[in-house]
Amino acid sequence: MQIQIFDNYSALSQQLAERILEIVKTNRDTVLCLAAGDTPKLAYRLIAEKAKAERIDFTKCTFIGLDEWVGIPPENEGSCHFFLNNNLFKPLSISSSQVHLFNALSGDLHAECRKMDAVISKTEGIDCMVVGIGMNGHIGFNEPGVSFDLTAHVIHLDDNTRAVGQKYFSEKTVLDKGITLGFQHLLLAKEARLIANGSKKAVILKKAIEEPMHSGVPASIMQSHSNGFIMIDKEAASLLQPATFSAKQKNGHDSKW
Ligand code: F6R
Repeated sequence: MQIQIFDNYSALSQQLAERILEIVKTNRDTVLCLAAGDTPKLAYRLIAEKAKAERIDFTKCTFIGLDEWVGIPPENEGSCHFFLNNNLFKPLSISSSQVHLFNALSGDLHAECRKMDAVISKTEGIDCMVVGIGMNGHIGFNEPGVSFDLTAHVIHLDDNTRAVGQKYFSEKTVLDKGITLGFQHLLLAKEARLIANGSKKAVILKKAIEEPMHSGVPASIMQSHSNGFIMIDKEAASLLQPATFSAKQKNGHDSKW
Protein backbone atom coordinates (compact mmCIF):
# COMPACT_ATOMS: atom_id res chain seq x y z
CA MET A 1 0.00 0.00 0.00
CA GLN A 2 1.25 3.45 -0.84
CA ILE A 3 0.03 6.70 0.63
CA GLN A 4 -0.26 9.79 -1.54
CA ILE A 5 -0.98 13.08 0.18
CA PHE A 6 -2.20 16.12 -1.73
CA ASP A 7 -2.41 19.77 -0.81
CA ASN A 8 -6.16 19.80 -1.27
CA TYR A 9 -9.21 18.06 -2.70
CA SER A 10 -8.75 19.63 -6.07
CA ALA A 11 -5.17 18.33 -6.47
CA LEU A 12 -6.27 14.87 -5.34
CA SER A 13 -9.16 14.81 -7.80
CA GLN A 14 -6.94 16.03 -10.61
CA GLN A 15 -4.44 13.24 -9.99
CA LEU A 16 -7.12 10.55 -9.75
CA ALA A 17 -8.69 11.73 -12.99
CA GLU A 18 -5.30 11.68 -14.73
CA ARG A 19 -4.65 8.15 -13.52
CA ILE A 20 -8.01 6.80 -14.74
CA LEU A 21 -7.55 8.50 -18.10
CA GLU A 22 -4.06 7.06 -18.39
CA ILE A 23 -5.37 3.54 -17.69
CA VAL A 24 -8.11 3.90 -20.32
CA LYS A 25 -5.70 5.37 -22.87
CA THR A 26 -3.38 2.40 -22.36
CA ASN A 27 -6.14 -0.20 -22.60
CA ARG A 28 -9.43 0.57 -24.33
CA ASP A 29 -10.98 -2.58 -22.80
CA THR A 30 -10.44 -1.36 -19.25
CA VAL A 31 -12.74 -2.71 -16.53
CA LEU A 32 -13.48 -0.04 -13.93
CA CYS A 33 -15.28 -0.22 -10.63
CA LEU A 34 -15.92 3.27 -9.32
CA ALA A 35 -17.61 4.29 -6.08
CA ALA A 36 -20.44 6.77 -5.77
CA GLY A 37 -20.48 9.35 -2.97
CA ASP A 38 -19.24 12.89 -2.43
CA THR A 39 -15.51 12.20 -2.54
CA PRO A 40 -15.07 11.16 -6.20
CA LYS A 41 -17.46 13.77 -7.62
CA LEU A 42 -14.86 16.25 -8.81
CA ALA A 43 -12.57 13.55 -10.23
CA TYR A 44 -15.47 12.21 -12.30
CA ARG A 45 -16.24 15.67 -13.61
CA LEU A 46 -12.61 16.12 -14.60
CA ILE A 47 -12.55 12.69 -16.26
CA ALA A 48 -15.59 13.58 -18.36
CA GLU A 49 -14.22 17.00 -19.30
CA LYS A 50 -10.77 15.71 -20.26
CA ALA A 51 -12.12 12.67 -22.08
CA LYS A 52 -14.16 15.00 -24.24
CA ALA A 53 -11.38 17.52 -24.79
CA GLU A 54 -8.76 14.89 -25.55
CA ARG A 55 -11.16 12.52 -27.35
CA ILE A 56 -10.33 9.60 -25.10
CA ASP A 57 -12.28 6.54 -26.12
CA PHE A 58 -14.39 4.97 -23.36
CA THR A 59 -16.61 2.97 -25.71
CA LYS A 60 -14.88 -0.34 -24.98
CA CYS A 61 -14.68 0.10 -21.20
CA THR A 62 -16.77 -1.94 -18.81
CA PHE A 63 -18.16 -0.42 -15.60
CA ILE A 64 -18.93 -2.58 -12.58
CA GLY A 65 -21.08 -1.26 -9.76
CA LEU A 66 -19.54 -1.26 -6.31
CA ASP A 67 -22.68 -1.11 -4.22
CA GLU A 68 -26.28 0.01 -3.87
CA TRP A 69 -28.86 0.73 -1.18
CA VAL A 70 -31.30 -2.20 -1.12
CA GLY A 71 -34.82 -1.16 -2.05
CA ILE A 72 -33.84 2.22 -3.47
CA PRO A 73 -34.79 2.59 -7.15
CA PRO A 74 -32.28 3.86 -9.72
CA GLU A 75 -34.30 7.01 -10.34
CA ASN A 76 -33.96 8.05 -6.70
CA GLU A 77 -31.34 10.82 -6.56
CA GLY A 78 -29.70 9.18 -3.51
CA SER A 79 -29.01 5.87 -5.23
CA CYS A 80 -25.51 4.99 -6.40
CA HIS A 81 -27.09 4.23 -9.76
CA PHE A 82 -28.44 7.76 -10.13
CA PHE A 83 -25.14 9.24 -9.00
CA LEU A 84 -23.03 7.26 -11.47
CA ASN A 85 -25.44 7.93 -14.31
CA ASN A 86 -25.36 11.65 -13.75
CA ASN A 87 -21.76 12.15 -12.81
CA LEU A 88 -20.10 9.66 -15.13
CA PHE A 89 -22.12 7.62 -17.58
CA LYS A 90 -24.16 10.41 -19.14
CA PRO A 91 -21.26 12.89 -19.38
CA LEU A 92 -19.06 10.19 -20.93
CA SER A 93 -21.86 8.90 -23.20
CA ILE A 94 -21.42 5.38 -21.85
CA SER A 95 -23.92 2.93 -23.29
CA SER A 96 -26.02 0.78 -20.96
CA SER A 97 -24.41 -2.36 -22.43
CA GLN A 98 -21.11 -1.26 -20.87
CA VAL A 99 -22.54 -0.94 -17.38
CA HIS A 100 -23.25 -3.62 -14.78
CA LEU A 101 -24.89 -2.28 -11.65
CA PHE A 102 -26.67 -4.14 -8.87
CA ASN A 103 -30.43 -4.33 -9.17
CA ALA A 104 -31.22 -3.46 -5.58
CA LEU A 105 -34.95 -3.97 -6.22
CA SER A 106 -34.49 -7.62 -7.16
CA GLY A 107 -36.70 -10.11 -5.34
CA ASP A 108 -33.67 -12.41 -5.18
CA LEU A 109 -30.72 -10.38 -3.97
CA HIS A 110 -28.63 -13.50 -3.47
CA ALA A 111 -29.02 -14.30 -7.18
CA GLU A 112 -28.15 -10.68 -7.94
CA CYS A 113 -24.88 -11.12 -6.05
CA ARG A 114 -24.01 -14.32 -7.91
CA LYS A 115 -24.85 -12.56 -11.17
CA MET A 116 -22.39 -9.78 -10.37
CA ASP A 117 -19.71 -12.29 -9.35
CA ALA A 118 -20.24 -14.03 -12.71
CA VAL A 119 -20.00 -10.74 -14.63
CA ILE A 120 -16.67 -10.02 -12.96
CA SER A 121 -15.40 -13.57 -13.55
CA LYS A 122 -16.08 -13.21 -17.25
CA THR A 123 -13.81 -10.16 -17.47
CA GLU A 124 -10.06 -10.34 -17.29
CA GLY A 125 -10.34 -8.79 -13.86
CA ILE A 126 -11.09 -5.32 -12.57
CA ASP A 127 -8.28 -3.06 -13.77
CA CYS A 128 -8.93 -0.29 -11.32
CA MET A 129 -11.22 0.02 -8.35
CA VAL A 130 -11.79 3.46 -6.81
CA VAL A 131 -13.37 3.41 -3.37
CA GLY A 132 -14.21 5.89 -0.65
CA ILE A 133 -14.13 5.34 3.09
CA GLY A 134 -17.17 5.70 5.32
CA MET A 135 -17.01 7.43 8.68
CA ASN A 136 -17.11 3.96 10.23
CA GLY A 137 -14.33 2.65 7.99
CA HIS A 138 -16.52 0.87 5.47
CA ILE A 139 -15.57 0.39 1.84
CA GLY A 140 -18.54 -0.05 -0.46
CA PHE A 141 -20.98 -1.48 2.05
CA ASN A 142 -18.44 -3.74 3.72
CA GLU A 143 -19.41 -2.70 7.21
CA PRO A 144 -17.39 -3.12 10.43
CA GLY A 145 -17.09 -6.81 11.33
CA VAL A 146 -17.39 -7.97 7.71
CA SER A 147 -15.46 -11.05 6.62
CA PHE A 148 -12.56 -10.27 4.33
CA ASP A 149 -13.30 -13.47 2.36
CA LEU A 150 -16.53 -12.41 0.68
CA THR A 151 -17.43 -11.67 -2.91
CA ALA A 152 -20.73 -9.85 -3.63
CA HIS A 153 -23.13 -9.97 -0.69
CA VAL A 154 -26.05 -8.33 1.06
CA ILE A 155 -25.41 -6.76 4.44
CA HIS A 156 -27.33 -5.04 7.22
CA LEU A 157 -26.16 -1.46 7.32
CA ASP A 158 -24.42 -0.13 10.37
CA ASP A 159 -26.22 2.64 12.34
CA ASN A 160 -23.54 5.09 11.28
CA THR A 161 -24.00 4.29 7.57
CA ARG A 162 -27.77 4.68 7.85
CA ALA A 163 -27.40 8.06 9.53
CA VAL A 164 -24.60 9.44 7.33
CA GLY A 165 -26.30 8.05 4.21
CA GLN A 166 -29.20 10.49 4.68
CA LYS A 167 -26.98 13.18 3.16
CA TYR A 168 -27.57 11.74 -0.31
CA PHE A 169 -31.37 11.95 -0.06
CA SER A 170 -33.62 15.00 -0.16
CA GLU A 171 -36.03 13.47 2.35
CA LYS A 172 -35.60 11.07 5.25
CA THR A 173 -35.17 7.61 3.77
CA VAL A 174 -35.21 4.19 5.38
CA LEU A 175 -31.82 2.62 4.73
CA ASP A 176 -31.67 -0.90 6.03
CA LYS A 177 -29.53 -3.13 3.85
CA GLY A 178 -26.84 -2.71 1.24
CA ILE A 179 -25.73 -4.89 -1.65
CA THR A 180 -22.02 -4.68 -2.32
CA LEU A 181 -18.93 -6.21 -3.86
CA GLY A 182 -16.80 -7.92 -1.24
CA PHE A 183 -13.15 -7.69 -0.36
CA GLN A 184 -12.21 -10.64 -2.53
CA HIS A 185 -13.06 -8.40 -5.46
CA LEU A 186 -11.03 -5.56 -4.00
CA LEU A 187 -8.00 -7.75 -3.35
CA LEU A 188 -8.13 -9.17 -6.88
CA ALA A 189 -8.44 -5.77 -8.54
CA LYS A 190 -5.22 -5.01 -10.40
CA GLU A 191 -5.15 -1.57 -8.84
CA ALA A 192 -7.15 -0.24 -5.89
CA ARG A 193 -7.38 3.42 -4.92
CA LEU A 194 -8.98 4.60 -1.71
CA ILE A 195 -9.71 8.31 -1.74
CA ALA A 196 -10.65 10.61 1.14
CA ASN A 197 -10.62 14.31 1.88
CA GLY A 198 -11.34 16.62 4.76
CA SER A 199 -10.62 16.54 8.48
CA LYS A 200 -13.81 14.55 9.17
CA LYS A 201 -12.09 11.48 7.70
CA ALA A 202 -8.83 11.93 9.68
CA VAL A 203 -9.71 9.73 12.68
CA ILE A 204 -10.94 6.75 10.68
CA LEU A 205 -8.06 7.00 8.23
CA LYS A 206 -5.55 6.92 11.07
CA LYS A 207 -7.16 3.69 12.30
CA ALA A 208 -7.29 2.16 8.82
CA ILE A 209 -3.65 2.93 8.11
CA GLU A 210 -1.89 2.70 11.46
CA GLU A 211 -3.77 -0.04 13.33
CA PRO A 212 -3.07 -3.64 12.38
CA MET A 213 -5.53 -4.84 9.75
CA HIS A 214 -8.81 -5.92 11.36
CA SER A 215 -12.43 -6.25 10.31
CA GLY A 216 -13.55 -3.63 12.88
CA VAL A 217 -12.08 -1.09 10.44
CA PRO A 218 -12.84 -2.66 7.07
CA ALA A 219 -10.74 -0.14 5.10
CA SER A 220 -7.63 -1.52 6.81
CA ILE A 221 -7.87 -4.23 4.11
CA MET A 222 -6.03 -1.74 1.90
CA GLN A 223 -2.87 -2.56 3.85
CA SER A 224 -2.77 -5.97 2.20
CA HIS A 225 -3.41 -4.86 -1.36
CA SER A 226 -0.29 -5.42 -3.44
CA ASN A 227 -1.11 -2.47 -5.70
CA GLY A 228 -3.16 -0.34 -3.35
CA PHE A 229 -3.01 3.43 -3.05
CA ILE A 230 -4.47 5.70 -0.40
CA MET A 231 -5.00 9.13 -1.95
CA ILE A 232 -5.86 11.74 0.66
CA ASP A 233 -5.62 15.46 1.16
CA LYS A 234 -3.63 17.08 3.96
CA GLU A 235 -6.67 17.52 6.19
CA ALA A 236 -7.58 13.84 6.00
CA ALA A 237 -3.92 12.97 6.64
CA SER A 238 -3.58 15.37 9.57
CA LEU A 239 -3.57 12.71 12.31
CA LEU A 240 -1.13 10.30 10.68
CA GLN A 241 2.18 9.91 12.43
CA PRO A 242 5.03 11.13 10.26
CA ALA A 243 6.87 7.84 10.90
CA THR A 244 4.01 5.73 9.55
CA PHE A 245 3.61 8.07 6.68
CA SER A 246 7.23 8.00 5.55
CA ALA A 247 7.40 4.22 5.91
CA LYS A 248 4.38 3.68 3.70
CA GLN A 249 4.53 6.55 1.28
CA LYS A 250 6.02 6.09 -2.14
CA ASN A 251 5.43 8.19 -5.22
CA GLY A 252 3.58 10.76 -3.16
CA HIS A 253 2.48 13.99 -4.73
CA ASP A 254 2.52 17.39 -3.13
CA SER A 255 3.37 15.82 0.19
CA LYS A 256 4.59 18.42 2.64
CA TRP A 257 4.62 17.99 6.38
C1 F6R B 1 -20.41 4.65 -2.31
C2 F6R B 1 -19.65 3.84 -1.35
C3 F6R B 1 -19.40 4.32 0.03
C4 F6R B 1 -18.71 5.68 0.05
C5 F6R B 1 -18.32 6.11 1.46
C6 F6R B 1 -17.77 7.52 1.48
O1 F6R B 1 -20.56 3.95 -3.53
O2 F6R B 1 -19.24 2.78 -1.70
O3 F6R B 1 -18.63 3.36 0.69
O4 F6R B 1 -17.55 5.60 -0.74
O5 F6R B 1 -19.42 6.03 2.30
O6 F6R B 1 -18.75 8.40 1.04
P1 F6R B 1 -18.46 9.94 0.77
O7 F6R B 1 -17.52 9.99 -0.39
O8 F6R B 1 -19.80 10.54 0.46
O9 F6R B 1 -17.84 10.47 2.01
